[in-house]
Amino acid sequence: MKKPRAAEVELELGFSAAPVPASREWKRLRDAAKSCQACPLWRNATCTVFGEGPVHARVMLVGEQPGDQEDRAGKPFVGPAGHLLDRALAEAGLQREELYVTNAVKHFKWTSQGKRRLHAKPNAREMAACRPWLAAEVEAIEPELIVCLGATAAQQVIDKSVRVTASRGKRMASAWGTTALVTVHPSSLLRHHGSGDPEAEFEAFVADLRKISRL
Ligand code: URA
Repeated sequence: MKKPRAAEVELELGFSAAPVPASREWKRLRDAAKSCQACPLWRNATCTVFGEGPVHARVMLVGEQPGDQEDRAGKPFVGPAGHLLDRALAEAGLQREELYVTNAVKHFKWTSQGKRRLHAKPNAREMAACRPWLAAEVEAIEPELIVCLGATAAQQVIDKSVRVTASRGKRMASAWGTTALVTVHPSSLLRHHGSGDPEAEFEAFVADLRKISRL
C-alpha cells in the first residue's frame, strides 16, 4: 500500500495550514480567521475569538485561549480572568482600550462536566496550527512590546522552553524580535487552593504590568 505523505496524514488527523491571507490589513486577518479549521478545535467552539484593540497599539497582551464567556461573546478576556486583568491594568495605570489583546490559540478548547464547559489546555500541535495567526497579528499591529500572560503565551511568543517562574518580569526577545515581557496568567490568580497570599499575588501581577510603561 502507498505510504501517505506527511500533509495527508495531517489532514486525516484534522490539521491543515491556517488560511492566513497575504494581506496584513487587520480586518482581513480577522475575517479570514473566522473560517479557520487548521486544527480540530473549531468543531466544538462557537466562533474564532480574534484579537481586538487599536491597530496601532504599542503594546500587545497575549493570553492562552478564549474561555467559555469569550467563546460566546467572540471577544478576548471578557470573563472572570478578563475582569481581573482589567482591575490589574487599572491599578497599574494602564488603559485597556489602548492595548491590543489577543490569545495564543483562537478557539476555546473544553471538556464537558454536566452542563459546564471546562477549560482544557491546548496541545503543542493545536498551538502550532494557530501560531500563524499570532504571527500575522504581530506583523499587522507592529507592537513595541508583547506581554505574555502565562506559559502558553510565552511559549508561543518567545520559545517552547520558556518557563514563567524563571522568566517572569524580565525583558526578553520574542521570536519576531519584538521586546517581550512574561508574567502570570490572570486565571492563576483566580484559582487559589489554600497556598499563597491572593492579595500579594495580585500586587505582584500589578507590579509586572507597571513594567509595561517603563519598557
Ligand atoms: N483566558 C485567556 O487566556 N484568554 C481569554 O481570552 C480568556 C481567558
